[in-house]
Amino acid sequence: YGTQNISKDGHLMIGGVDTVDLAKTYGTPLFIYDIELIRNRARGFINTFNKMGVKAEVAYASKAFSCIAIYQLAKQENLSLDVVSGGELYTAIKSGFPAERIHFHGNNKSYAELELAFDTKIGCIVVDNFYEIELLKEISEAKKQSMRILLRVTPGVEAHTHDFITTGQADSKFGFDLNNGQADEAFQKVVNHPYLQLLGLHCHIGSQIFETDGFSLAAGKLMKKISDWKEQFQFECTVLNLGGGFGIRYTEEDHPLEPKVYVEEMIKTVQENVKEYKLSMPEIWIEPGRSLVGDAGTSLYTIGSQKTVPNIREYIAVDGGMSDNIRPALYDAKYEATIANKAHEDRNFTYTVAGKLCESGDKLIIDAELQKADAGDLLAVFCTGAYGYSMASNYNRVPRPAVVFVESGDHQLAVQRESYEDLVVNDLPFSLNKVSVK
Ligand code: LLP
Repeated sequence: YGTQNISKDGHLMIGGVDTVDLAKTYGTPLFIYDIELIRNRARGFINTFNKMGVKAEVAYASKAFSCIAIYQLAKQENLSLDVVSGGELYTAIKSGFPAERIHFHGNNKSYAELELAFDTKIGCIVVDNFYEIELLKEISEAKKQSMRILLRVTPGVEAHTHDFITTGQADSKFGFDLNNGQADEAFQKVVNHPYLQLLGLHCHIGSQIFETDGFSLAAGKLMKKISDWKEQFQFECTVLNLGGGFGIRYTEEDHPLEPKVYVEEMIKTVQENVKEYKLSMPEIWIEPGRSLVGDAGTSLYTIGSQKTVPNIREYIAVDGGMSDNIRPALYDAKYEATIANKAHEDRNFTYTVAGKLCESGDKLIIDAELQKADAGDLLAVFCTGAYGYSMASNYNRVPRPAVVFVESGDHQLAVQRESYEDLVVNDLPFSLNKVSVK
């Protein structure tokens, strides 16, 4: 994984930094991000478009991991940004991210969220539904302010890992159906509006996808619609946004393609369609989340108690769990791990890694092959950079971990560990003392 290796004394190193030292400095649980790996991934996407001579925007889907420092890194790497809530938008603006490179998503954006988008002058709103069109008309007319928009459509292609399914109608809460007239109706509603500037179409077919076929199929369907609109209404879209979803390797059972392969295939499909329908080449926008930050993140825990269930399993428990990584409990997601202070030792032991939360389902890894574990050892769980910290909760009033960035032997705190004080900061004292119990 990225810049990871093992030091002479058997310690897991990330970005030239000893993870055992990181644990001493920052405590555990700790998220460690390998910044060089994120940079390489970002540059890989951008260079692929450049090499193939295609105008593009690579927008980091920041729901995967959102904080001020990651937005500042995204800015440095010339990424655009996909935000999905007022909170992500606020964080992005706070970080100094250029507003014109922010794209705003969501299937139920509120009036206040949309106003914030106008007031901060973001680059584009990805419009999801008819209610949102009405809100956008109202706000843009009240403010006499233009906004660039994409229409999000569901092409009837859904992809999950290896498989994709195609249906005439997509049963999705997102977007305008491409196949039943909804997308055409949305087009009619926005195309001549004085303040809404339609750039093109968006679709997102799924997440953790290992094949290119779903993307090609979806791209073909959107290009056909672009061609239809050109013929019927002499309006030609200039942007085609094909979303994110490029898969990563969590365990040796996962076989994703190289990130650039997804992009190359997309570009080829779009170019073929441009030729077939005699269109101009649109800009291609993508929204990778997991594939930018997923395998760059490692969770570091301290091992505490152990329990043997005779003839069944050995448990080791760590000082975090489903509060900092809900994915095993929620999606049955699989991870690999190593004991970071014994990374050079043989893995002759099988342990089930349990979290510390009061729930039987709080297990991070079933049957992990590990070095012999003792209390006080450090467990590194790999590939937790996407949808780990961002989906963390305070269940059981467990404070959220700290996040550190490492690169070329340097390290910095990117998000402070939550304190007990932070946990009660919004709590107010009980004050309904007039109630008498009969
Ligand atoms: N664009 C849109 C419109 C999306 O809905 C998503 C993810 C992305 C881009 C980024 O997808 P990625 O490249 O990260 O696959 N919590 C789940 C994943 C939810 C993905 C939601 N949408 C998980 O932990 O696997």
